[in-house]
Amino acid sequence: MSLWQKHAIFEKNSIILIIGVLVMISIGGLVEILPLFYLKSTIEKVEGLRPYTPLELAGRNIYVREGCYTCHSQMIRSLRDEVERYGHYSLAAESMYDHPFQWGSKRNGPDLARVGAKYSDEWHRQHLADPRSLVPGSIMPSYPWLAKTELDVSHLGEDMNVLALEGTPYTADMITKAAADAKAQASDEDPGDLAARYPKVIARNFDGRPGAVTEADALIAYLQMLGTLVDFKIYDDKANLR
Ligand code: HEC
Repeated sequence: MSLWQKHAIFEKNSIILIIGVLVMISIGGLVEILPLFYLKSTIEKVEGLRPYTPLELAGRNIYVREGCYTCHSQMIRSLRDEVERYGHYSLAAESMYDHPFQWGSKRNGPDLARVGAKYSDEWHRQHLADPRSLVPGSIMPSYPWLAKTELDVSHLGEDMNVLALEGTPYTADMITKAAADAKAQASDEDPGDLAARYPKVIARNFDGRPGAVTEADALIAYLQMLGTLVDFKIYDDKANLR
């Protein structure tokens, strides 16, 4: 009996065929699943990435609270039109500190994964307060209360503590200094050793108002940081990916 004739046993008996199918699928499944148990991480590390500063984290929480993700994605696909419009495609590591991630599923507005440093703070202030004053046809809602509402920094330490439990490398020192660091980042004065804890941090008076730290400070700090942490020149030179 040749090998092909032996195969007829499977083809003529449905129970044996089902058992055979199950055995094959199990092998395929194990090959995919088993490595996940001993790999420490499936995310390739990239240089430059760091956890959010307390102010950026507060801004991110406002971004989630206001539902910006219902219209904006933060995930650039590796397709030519996206890469040419938005910049280098998103890497898995870029959202490794996002709980929950903000990839989104809808683009009524543009992708925001690399919007940092694209506009001035002034532009963002004006745009958030009244989008149509800058982009006449815009359907984006106005968020005029952000610049008027003082930022609640009292629970930032707790937020960071929860993220630390989930694996974000916030130290006890960072958590104790959360409120003070948030205020220091939102002012034009010397932020002290903030950059030692958060490399590449941008510290300035984002909302343009002296004194009060507002929700606009936090949200603009977050927007201005998006996509600016990883220096893609290193990767592009290596692989010419772009
Ligand atoms: C109803 C959908 C909608 C919602 C909700 C929304 N946006 Fe937009 N957004 C848009 C549209 C459409 C544009 C493009 C026109 C414009 O610039 O106003 C845009 C543009 C932007 C831009 C400029 C992007 C660029 O590259 O030019 C930023 C930044 C932005 N939105 C931030 C936000 C933030 C932050 C929130 C939440 C507070 C938000 N948006 C909520 C629809 C929305």
